[in-house]
Amino acid sequence: MTPQPLDTAATEALLAFWRDAGVDACYLSEPVDRTIFVAPPAPQVMQKAVATVTALHGGMSGADAVAEARRVAAAAMTMETLAEAVAAFQGCPLRAMGAKQAVFARGNPKGSILLIGEAPGETEDLRGEPFVGQAGQLLDRMLAAAGLNDQVFMTNTVFWKPPGNRPPSPQEQAACAPFLERAFALMQPRAVLLVGAAAAKSVLNTEDGLMKIRGQWREWRPDEGGVSAPVMTTLHPAFLLRQPQAKRVAWADMLSLAARLDTAQVEPQA
Ligand code: URA
Repeated sequence: MTPQPLDTAATEALLAFWRDAGVDACYLSEPVDRTIFVAPPAPQVMQKAVATVTALHGGMSGADAVAEARRVAAAAMTMETLAEAVAAFQGCPLRAMGAKQAVFARGNPKGSILLIGEAPGETEDLRGEPFVGQAGQLLDRMLAAAGLNDQVFMTNTVFWKPPGNRPPSPQEQAACAPFLERAFALMQPRAVLLVGAAAAKSVLNTEDGLMKIRGQWREWRPDEGGVSAPVMTTLHPAFLLRQPQAKRVAWADMLSLAARLDTAQVEPQA
């Protein structure tokens, strides 16, 4: 077979398609014998690796970064002070990877829906607001069509643009999670909409594929904050831009969200 020149854009689009569809691991075509002992790296190599990770977390270990995030997030009593705390936070490794600024949230903090996406992209990094690129515009149109646009407060699992638009790592999401949970506790939304596989994985701590869990209602109750709300996952608008035929199921999810809020409105308050 004659090797074809690599079409980078097509390869990236294909990888993004698989990722949005919930495929998050790939395997070699040959099996690997994991029963063979591989010596651990020499102590100096380990020390260097630990030093690199610590430097990326603003001089903290990953665990210290999460503890610091928890401390400063808990001290924020309003969404404005929480946004300031995010902007000042040094513990997320993405900060030092070329992001121009922190991208925290936009929308109505007194609304009834907290929407959580994956991570800021190029346009969001430039503008300092989430979901303002092409995918965000599609999302806005869908929310408006469902009559929900003024009800939504939008944020992401991480607040800095990952390099090369890659998905955020679990460590990067863990460092930002306390701010997300605090936003949830301050807002006390009636429903949470997770947009895309990365948001579902981080918030619901699930390995289930996106196509399996989308449209299902679950309960999100973070360990801290004493607040819970029904949560649903839907397809990411960037995926819908590449696969317009999937808009039908995403629209069904939007309608389910709108119906859920209608129902919640007539339920007696506890
Ligand atoms: N995609 C996301 O998940 N979030 C944004 O803010 C923009 C694009």
